[in-house]
Amino acid sequence: MTDLASVFNPFPVLTTERLILRQLALADAPAMQILIADPRVMQYMGRLPTDDRQATLDRIEMHLDGFRQLLEIRWAITLKAANDDRFIGDVSLHYIDTYHSHVEIGYSLNHDYWGKGLASEAIQAVLGFGFEKMGMYRIEANIAIENTRSKAVLERNGFQYDGRLRKRFRDVHGFDDEHYFSILLPEWQERQAASG
Ligand SMILES: CC(C)(COP(=O)(O)OP(=O)(O)OC[C@H]1O[C@@H](n2cnc3c(N)ncnc32)[C@H](O)[C@@H]1OP(=O)(O)O)[C@@H](O)C(=O)NCCC(=O)NCCS
Repeated sequence: MTDLASVFNPFPVLTTERLILRQLALADAPAMQILIADPRVMQYMGRLPTDDRQATLDRIEMHLDGFRQLLEIRWAITLKAANDDRFIGDVSLHYIDTYHSHVEIGYSLNHDYWGKGLASEAIQAVLGFGFEKMGMYRIEANIAIENTRSKAVLERNGFQYDGRLRKRFRDVHGFDDEHYFSILLPEWQERQAASG
């Protein structure tokens, strides 16, 4: 099994063509707040949009604590060209299970940056890290099936539909179904080989 303590130390900054993925920090709270207050971003996240700044700080602290405990890793998405280190979204690997070698991926992007291929670029980098550095065999995502942009981003990045778990998720309206998608290590390797 992979020694996550060494894989996570120092924090693995990931660089892509247009992005730098660095560790989420408490200083990201104001920029993250913009996403959390935006109904377009929050529509399928199971939480109501909110202006509660303390809740945002608490959420970041919770993620940092999860990282210290090797339970999750969360990157702030920043634009290389902007050269200002500003948070425009986040991408995470959470519910890490090293014994069964699977993990769940999550992502969100400031609405100003949708439709540019940036989420896919971040997801590709994080999939590479999950499979090649963390030694995962399966990376899964679970979404509200009405979240067509999220479904499209998963399919674009090679995820396949696994199925539905009934009423497994409590959102603001009550219980909802969870729809699982996944990509397996050999499928990732095949896609990598095909893309040159
Ligand atoms: C889910 C989410 C991250 C998807 O973002 P996205 O920008 O649609 O996804 P991608 O990065 O794959 O971008 C694809 C789009 O960029 C376009 N694009 C433009 N330039 C591109 C480029 N250079 N490379 C690739 N695609 C490009 C594609 O054509 C595609 O456009 P389309 O949506 O009109 O078909 C975003 O909608 C979001 O933050 N949603 C709210 C949070 C959320 O629901 N998260 C998931 C919870 S499970």
